[in-house]
Amino acid sequence: MRPLKIAPSILASDFARLGAQVAEATQGGADYIHIDVMDGHFVPNLTLGPVIVRAIRPYSRLPFDVHLMIENPERYVKSFVEAGANRVTVHVEACTHLHRVIDHIHSFNVDAGVAINPATPLVMLEEILAFVQQVNVMTVNPGFGGQVFVIEMLEKIARLRAMIETRQLDVDIEVDGGVDLETAPRCVEAGANVLIAGTSIFAGDGTIGEKIDALRHAAPKTQRAPMARVRSKTKTA
Ligand code: DX5
Ligand code: ZN
Repeated sequence: MRPLKIAPSILASDFARLGAQVAEATQGGADYIHIDVMDGHFVPNLTLGPVIVRAIRPYSRLPFDVHLMIENPERYVKSFVEAGANRVTVHVEACTHLHRVIDHIHSFNVDAGVAINPATPLVMLEEILAFVQQVNVMTVNPGFGGQVFVIEMLEKIARLRAMIETRQLDVDIEVDGGVDLETAPRCVEAGANVLIAGTSIFAGDGTIGEKIDALRHAAPKTQRAPMARVRSKTKTA
């Protein structure tokens, strides 16, 4: 079983106290800090750029997992890495020359990932899977925090885990959007091993650390990936 990692998404944090929130997530036991970059073109929202990544870098020793929801992401990879990104993920839907972009990310000695929207079929990843360190399976349509988890994505996660295992690849599956105490265990059971969570970590009562712990403990101890199990659960949901 791959180690389970928790990646708080700062999109749901208090931006007026961003450094402190990143520090709190780090001390609270997070494995990565997930940073959502939006350009108002690829997704209908704007967030932040390299200047913010650089500003929060001193507040955490954890890897920064930068999720680029932008068009032509290759234009900004260098700036984000220089600002402190350790893992850079681009969208399959945003890259005409995806293999070249992944190569470009690797040229900066950081991990490369590819994200896939709910409506994009997994077949789009077949030829790139062997070249990436992580796949971000979007479980909402990207652009906003606090949306409802698209339950049909559980089966997609299971199919992706099977694809990775059949090819004997070493690839993380991240899930992103609507991950909470109810959906997290089902994602892990389906084969995800990185839980990205914004609202369920930064909003509501309790400390960030308590919520990270709760998510970690909600996940099952072992990954059982059979698709049949995921399907039957989906039907009764
Ligand atoms: C959505 C972003 C997510 C988002 C998740 O476009 O990629 O990382 O912050 O937020 P929650 O956990 O609130 O759904
Ligand atoms: Zn994200």
